[in-house]
Amino acid sequence: MSISQTVLENIIREAGSIAMTYFKDLKNLAVTKKSPRDLVTDADVAVEAFLQASLAKHYPQFGFWGEESGQSANQTNRWIVDPIDGTHSFSRGQYFWGISVALEIDQELIFGAVYAPALDDYYAAEKGKGAWKNGQAIAVSNESNLADAMVATGFACLRSYLKENNLQRFCRIAEITTGQRRFGSAAIDLCLVADGQVDAFWEQELNLYDVAAGALIAEEAGATLTDFQGNKGLFPKQILVTNGKILKQILPLM
Ligand code: IPD
Ligand code: CA
Ligand code: CA
Repeated sequence: MSISQTVLENIIREAGSIAMTYFKDLKNLAVTKKSPRDLVTDADVAVEAFLQASLAKHYPQFGFWGEESGQSANQTNRWIVDPIDGTHSFSRGQYFWGISVALEIDQELIFGAVYAPALDDYYAAEKGKGAWKNGQAIAVSNESNLADAMVATGFACLRSYLKENNLQRFCRIAEITTGQRRFGSAAIDLCLVADGQVDAFWEQELNLYDVAAGALIAEEAGATLTDFQGNKGLFPKQILVTNGKILKQILPLM
């Protein structure tokens, strides 16, 4: 199942320039609420439509699952796409938002890319071939002491409905760690673990399209992927990604 990194990078970077045309004209951005805290803009819809058409043109054999347009035929071998992860940040002119594209074949993620156009950072990975940022190989950090760690998290849009909504967990971990960040894009959070800017990221109630590409990039960069109990694997509803060296220290706080 050969895919071309160059073809995909060109498609995703072009999607990024479409997003930037909206980003540079935010006063005319149409923003709609999908639910009380979940937004969609005309930029999300335009970027997804471009990605769906371009990916189908180059790889007609694969299906498509996009956050905004849903699932097309062939969900066995499919692209899993979040056109703008971090839509709220995007709509407010902040820089931490990204385009997330993953390829899943028979339930295995084999390709993932996250492009942050406002930062011009292109992260990608291929199963068994490592991870890179702007063409340079990346790896997780060496931080082995949780007390010195930099961590990131997010608060699901649903939090007011959740009995256990991550706020208590955040307080427990913030008491122990040195740095805590809420960047506003799960896809970028995962890439920051992959290139060592962050030592751990966790969040609840995410969807596969939020994390598929970022999870493969983090895993190929040497990260551990577990749920909050330490079970290995990709669990969007309970994702914990670490550099591996602080996993045992952070698990009791989850
Ligand atoms: C959101 C971002 C955010 C996370 C939310 C997601 P979206 O994705 O990943 O960091 O906290 O739960 O919904 O809605 O901007 O694509
Ligand atoms: Ca998302
Ligand atoms: Ca989105």
